[in-house]
Amino acid sequence: MNAQHKKTRILNTILGIIYVIMAYVFYQEFGMSDWRQLLFWAVLAIIAESFVVISSVGTTTSVGTAIYLYTAIIGTPFDVMVIVTIGTLLCFPEVNDKRKHLLNTAPYKMAFNIFNISLAMALSSVLFQLYQGPFNIIIFALIMLVALAVEELINGFILLQYFSIQFDDIKARDILKDIFGSYMNSLAIGTLGIFLVFADYTYGKSIVVILFIPILLARYSFKLYYDSQRMAIDTIHALNEALHAKDAYTGGHTGRVQQYAKDIAKAYKLSPHQIDTIDKAALLHDIGKIGIPDDILNKAGKLTDEEYRRIQDHASIGGHIIGSVHSLRKISLIIIQHHERYDGKGYPNQLAGDQISVEASILMIADSFDAMTSERPYRKAFSKEHAIQELIDNAGTQFHPQVVQCFVDDVLLRPGYEIGESEGELLEINELKEVQANAERVNEA
Ligand SMILES: [Fe+2]
Repeated sequence: MNAQHKKTRILNTILGIIYVIMAYVFYQEFGMSDWRQLLFWAVLAIIAESFVVISSVGTTTSVGTAIYLYTAIIGTPFDVMVIVTIGTLLCFPEVNDKRKHLLNTAPYKMAFNIFNISLAMALSSVLFQLYQGPFNIIIFALIMLVALAVEELINGFILLQYFSIQFDDIKARDILKDIFGSYMNSLAIGTLGIFLVFADYTYGKSIVVILFIPILLARYSFKLYYDSQRMAIDTIHALNEALHAKDAYTGGHTGRVQQYAKDIAKAYKLSPHQIDTIDKAALLHDIGKIGIPDDILNKAGKLTDEEYRRIQDHASIGGHIIGSVHSLRKISLIIIQHHERYDGKGYPNQLAGDQISVEASILMIADSFDAMTSERPYRKAFSKEHAIQELIDNAGTQFHPQVVQCFVDDVLLRPGYEIGESEGELLEINELKEVQANAERVNEA
């Protein structure tokens, strides 16, 4: 058994001991509801947990939280632990087109989920027990905000311990970001739980069953959202593969441009959403080249002015291709503008200054920096210092001056910052000298 397995086992054992102690304490302190009541919640929990949806990043969301919250409010903390345990053990969700159940899921994973979720939910249930006043939907909604925050924090804390065992470079900040996203999801689903409580108190269990149907339908809206996200990502990959098949030159270049663009965007303090958008735009920035005839794109000799103009069309062609996917509209605007210059002498629309989005300005600088620092058949790669000087010399004419300043001061001159390696591609590039020479002209235009 390696050290990682050992640590995972120790964490699971500690959680298991806490689980048993808390189950005992909560049972003594708050008791347990009638078994018919528990059976009713357990059936709802199994159904809810079985309709899990998978998000684009692989995490799961189910409407189980609504049932757990409903149990946490009407039942006791011990009830929640029982229901989470039964719901997790007996659910049969479809994951990656395969039904998962008790017999084909790793026991330690299942135990970890049971310990983690029931501890978090039971502690949040204690908050509801402490409230002694009459049922009031607003007060319950407020308690829910706090209770789910407690639940997410405990859950996040336990997950952080788990992930820091599994991965060396996991950052608390990334986990916190996930927790926040998951908190928003839980609030939306938790609100449905509050309605179930309201229905139970006011009209009884039969109405709860009727209300449960729209809750399951809510799952479809999540599924549709995640499916659309996944489709967008699949589309990006398919388009990228198509370009690579046509133009082998773009491979290593694309990866380095993505890295520079993300580094600049972070240093420029753009939001995580903007950074993600720039990342995707960088991946696809030259996708419009798939709309340029092969005999021009791969022409061995010198390009005529007309052919050069045709190659310039790749910016607007790329923008139109990507813009046809609704969820990629923002990315398409960046791609259209990625050859616009700060002084208005770029293409396709001769935009200038602030007419060009900051995202496109960042991409343009990342693209040009990589073109300068990559080995060319007719010249050696510029040194880092030489390329920095070029950026500074052309700030305010070709490049956005503040973005250049940020790139140079906060990224390139940061101690230990390494610029992308291009050596790995040299053999391939040497075979494609003329192709690359044409592409180079486009990159530097
Ligand atoms: Fe381009």
